Amino acid sequence: MGDPRPSTSHVGRSLRQKRAPDDRAFDLFLPRELRALADQHWSPLSVAVRTAEWIDDLGVATVLDVGAGAGKLCVAAALASHARFIGVEQRPHLVASARELARTFDVADRATFLEGRLGEIELPAADCLYFYNPFGENLFGTANHIDDDVDLGRERYIRDVRIAEALLRRAQVGQVVILYNGFGGRMPEGYDQVRIDREQPSVLRAWRRVRG
Ligand SMILES: C[S@@+](CC[C@H](N)C(=O)[O-])C[C@H]1O[C@@H](n2cnc3c(N)ncnc32)[C@H](O)[C@@H]1O
Repeated sequence: MGDPRPSTSHVGRSLRQKRAPDDRAFDLFLPRELRALADQHWSPLSVAVRTAEWIDDLGVATVLDVGAGAGKLCVAAALASHARFIGVEQRPHLVASARELARTFDVADRATFLEGRLGEIELPAADCLYFYNPFGENLFGTANHIDDDVDLGRERYIRDVRIAEALLRRAQVGQVVILYNGFGGRMPEGYDQVRIDREQPSVLRAWRRVRG
């Protein structure tokens, strides 16, 4: 028999108090086939809580999660902060799960999801961009892919990293960028690192554009 699922109110209350519950407890609210992917592909709750602290501190209103996956970061950080989250995700079944997760935790008004690929859809305005190494999967072996629904490979990796760098170059002064385990490219000129947390499983950094 699997672990009993805790109540949404118990998990939600911890996150609203900026305390990270056990990841396994939260992951039980994901479809079974997506739980096993959590350790490698979805942000841990400790990262979502730290991100929430930083965005409230930095006065961020809207976060765009580039490559939102199953919606774990958007939903957990929406519970733990005052910001609005928009996740962009290329895999339709993950978008459907992310929307369901947001409804389950009653944050569907502040955590919404768009289906599409970076570079192919118009991105909504956001004063903060979040990346959890979204293009890294292109370089993984097939055993570590989320699924085989999308084309992956080195060429696509290079193209996506370039698109992300161009997005960061175009951003206005004041733009916040939060990177968990980087995005594969370099931060353009004009950004200062304003926060860093090396205690997470991978390094979490926040940057702010200070010069155009
Ligand atoms: C490492 S997961 C991170 C998920 C989520 N941000 C989180 O922290 O829990 C990266 C996600 O980015 C998506 N992705 C990768 N490249 C993308 C692209 N070019 N456009 C949209 N989504 C992309 C993948 O499908 C995957 O779901």
